[in-house]
Amino acid sequence: MSQRLKLEVKHLNAIGGQDLVILVSDKLAPPKIAEEWLGEGTHALLARAAAADRFKGKALAGLTLLAPDGAGYERLIVLGVGPDGERDKLDFAKLGGAIAGRLGHGRSADIIAALPDSQIGPEQVAELALGLRLRSYVFDRYKTKTKEADQAEPFTVTLRVADPAAVKKAVKAREAIAAGVEIARDLVNEPPNVLYPEEFAERAARLEKLGVGIEILDEKQLRKIGMRALLGVGQGSRRESRVVVMRWNGAKASVQPVAFVGKGVTFDTGGISLKPGAGMEDMKGDMAGAACVTGLMHALAARKAKVNAIGVIGLVENMPDGNAQRPGDIVTSLSGQTIEIINTDAEGRLVLADVLWYTQDKFKPRFMVNLATLTGAILVALAQENAGLFSNSDELSERLAAAGKATGESVWRMPLGAAYDKMIDSKFADMKNSAGRYGGSITAAQFLQRHVNDTPWAHLDIAGTGMGSPNSETNRSWGSGWGVRLLDRLVSDHYES
Ligand code: BES
Ligand code: MN
Ligand code: ZN
Repeated sequence: MSQRLKLEVKHLNAIGGQDLVILVSDKLAPPKIAEEWLGEGTHALLARAAAADRFKGKALAGLTLLAPDGAGYERLIVLGVGPDGERDKLDFAKLGGAIAGRLGHGRSADIIAALPDSQIGPEQVAELALGLRLRSYVFDRYKTKTKEADQAEPFTVTLRVADPAAVKKAVKAREAIAAGVEIARDLVNEPPNVLYPEEFAERAARLEKLGVGIEILDEKQLRKIGMRALLGVGQGSRRESRVVVMRWNGAKASVQPVAFVGKGVTFDTGGISLKPGAGMEDMKGDMAGAACVTGLMHALAARKAKVNAIGVIGLVENMPDGNAQRPGDIVTSLSGQTIEIINTDAEGRLVLADVLWYTQDKFKPRFMVNLATLTGAILVALAQENAGLFSNSDELSERLAAAGKATGESVWRMPLGAAYDKMIDSKFADMKNSAGRYGGSITAAQFLQRHVNDTPWAHLDIAGTGMGSPNSETNRSWGSGWGVRLLDRLVSDHYES
């Protein structure tokens, strides 16, 4: 990752960049405070440009025009914030993202952080700054040509605000979250020859310097514990499997922890039930759940969240091989239940079955949320707009839905129930790992639920939202880092002492 954004926060009493960014309402009125910098003739120019471009000041819409002679800046970038009456609907992170989308490489810009009709509070300016930063992320580690290199030239942005000290403080508080999202994106974007289970475990272990306790379980230990469902998935790979336990103790030792669990299939070929070749390269992202958990643990530790949190990730590579698992195999999971393998490509649920059981048994958490790029079927149902939410708890579901609304990382609740559960009964074992295409996301979730006791639990199927360039105002990266902001928000809204 390279950080293209150089952000400064300064007082409104001066401007100095090449571009000037202002926010206008649906009446195309700029904030009073911006007037003194706009220069003679700018209003007329703006009105003409808006008419030509049919720009009506709608929220997040934008317009770029050349400044009139002698204005003291080169371009005027205008972002709409909609009608004055609808200000509470405005998402400042998205607005920051929309602004970043209009900035130029190697250029400098001043953003007048004021609304046409009012000031913007420090928290909202900080959200805007977060959006600027998230949208500016590029993964260019493997680009060596100079042509691409100047794409990575930074842009310098100065936020012009009424109260720089307060804004700086609020911006700083969000740096932990931004860094957490970037860590998750990097992990998802990394190629699978670089990021295999052991390497992933080592990257997670970097959180140690923030005070996160790290435990890496190797295959010998996993065998001893009894994670045979997870090990079965990894047995066809030359790369050894790993489980990593991350612990952040930000509250008193007596406070029950919250737990986050991630699917970390560093590459999913499908195994013996081999996937078709076209598009298989995307299966490097099949560890987006584990990436999110790692980024989240970073965020919580870096902002010293007053919570005890556990992150557990199951890291395996699913490969076809002479030693690979076969359709027809029966494995015994950590829960003691037996599983008939119907399709070796339904591997994520096998990994999670053991890791979920382990987490609830060992840590007795207040709740468990798992994230997994679990099924293609969730893309069929929800596209890349929502993650699928499956849960045994209405309270946890409602809290996740609210956090989703607040962060823009939205979830849509899907059904669970006895009729769906029956679909994974097996002729030869306690259950089977695949029930075919119908309701594919639901039967996968039922499988997970068979490995959850009465711990409040939610499963987020992020096959659509976590990878494959789910573009939004705050994301242009292939690996989106989806879920870090959502779960950080869940924690800060409800579980910090
Ligand atoms: N990792 C895939 C799901 C996936 C698909 C993630 C597309 C991201 C984008 C998962 O392991 C898988 O292969 N699921 C199968 C399940 C089936 C064999 C029951 C699927 O969705 O087809
Ligand atoms: Mn698979
Ligand atoms: Zn998979």
